[in-house]
Amino acid sequence: MRPRFLPLLALVLFTVTAPAARGEDAFVIKPYLQLGDAPASTTGDLALLWGGADRETAWSVDYQVPPESTWKKAEAKVFRRIASPVVPAHRLYRATFDGLPPGVDFRYRVLNGADVVFEAAAKSRKSADQPYRFIAVGDIAQGSGAQKEIAARMVLEKPDFLMVTGDIVYGRGLVSEYRDRYWPVYNADQTAPDVGGPLLRSTLTLAAPGNHDIGSRNFDRSPDSLGYFLYWDQPLNGPKDGPYTLPMTGNEAHQKAFLDAAGPSYPRMANFSFDYGNAHWLVLDANPYVDWRDSGLRDWVANDLAAAKGATWRFVSFHHPGFNSSKAHFEQQEMRLIADLLEAGKVDVVFNGHVHNYQRSFPLRFIADRDSDGKMVRTRDLVPGTWTLDKTFDGKNRTRPDGVIYLVTGAGGAGLYNPEQQDKPETWQSFTDKFISKRHSITVADVSGPNLTVRQVAADGSELDRFEIKK
Ligand SMILES: [Fe+2]
Repeated sequence: MRPRFLPLLALVLFTVTAPAARGEDAFVIKPYLQLGDAPASTTGDLALLWGGADRETAWSVDYQVPPESTWKKAEAKVFRRIASPVVPAHRLYRATFDGLPPGVDFRYRVLNGADVVFEAAAKSRKSADQPYRFIAVGDIAQGSGAQKEIAARMVLEKPDFLMVTGDIVYGRGLVSEYRDRYWPVYNADQTAPDVGGPLLRSTLTLAAPGNHDIGSRNFDRSPDSLGYFLYWDQPLNGPKDGPYTLPMTGNEAHQKAFLDAAGPSYPRMANFSFDYGNAHWLVLDANPYVDWRDSGLRDWVANDLAAAKGATWRFVSFHHPGFNSSKAHFEQQEMRLIADLLEAGKVDVVFNGHVHNYQRSFPLRFIADRDSDGKMVRTRDLVPGTWTLDKTFDGKNRTRPDGVIYLVTGAGGAGLYNPEQQDKPETWQSFTDKFISKRHSITVADVSGPNLTVRQVAADGSELDRFEIKK
């Protein structure tokens, strides 16, 4: 017979011996770097976010830029209180590393009271005259072994920043799914192919929203929906109004809890732009509920790119590719509707996801068909039209493309799509130059002034594709 006093004894012992959550276990979410609402890069500034329990905690942050030996204080403030009914309420804290010189390695530490509970090294933002490396990849946190292998590869490539091209967390971008599939892999303490690695604490990470991130808005079915708008801290300089969101449905109390926590990020953070180094970036919501024929949205894109005339490079990231040869998602072509704006705005490369493989287009120009009223045709999500290809560009000897290069880089962890097409170019659309669908991979881009080298790299480091652009 089980002694009745044992549970009581265990409770007493635990109460006496359990330490205050002062060490790393004080974190609900370990520290991670974000850009914050700082689209222009005049300094190397970055934001640091982390999650703690839903109670008063004496957090503080120090940072040090070698060879300086002194530690500067960064004020820690509550950024959000996330009170999802599915996971325990927690507070998201934020500190800003102000006045960082661009392009330096620095150290930071997070203190809980007088105790240093976390330390990491990081790199500040680069200035326009400094070379840098970034990784672009989408469709990542599905909980697969490949996800962890790719995460470890990301760390080993030592990028200055990571751009996630959407579908950050499967299956519905929920707060609870971030807990299970995102934080433990991309902010693991050790780098290993069966674990992931300490990417987020040391590497600036940005993201475009995918369908799995913000498609779920039913708060009956998923009370912890829309984690994208809670955990990401990105510029709020997108269009203020416009047909770019879906109504939320379901439990009104849960909706209100979400809106209270998200504040101004929802829905505005669905679209934004920023500068990094000598590049201007545009990040868009490609979900099909957005009609990119809308004049307000189109004006915003055109004006944003026109205002970036001082940038050497113009890169764009959104989830659903307009130019895709995979049988998977072939009919989702709606982002072709802004091809003309990207061409006029002198965009160099577009990074997409959604289709779980790698595809590189020839440099291309696209003219959408128009109806009798002069409006671009979109039949469901099909966008018929005419493309012109630059087949003289080879990325080795001929490195000045005439047109925009579109990359599908959605092989970041989720199950691969259409491996059977890799060796059957007759199944590709004529705009596709490279198609690699048998291996998971990431896009690693090195920018040095007027030179861009793009490599597609598998989890073991092997190179699957490579091209250069020179200005
Ligand atoms: Fe997707």
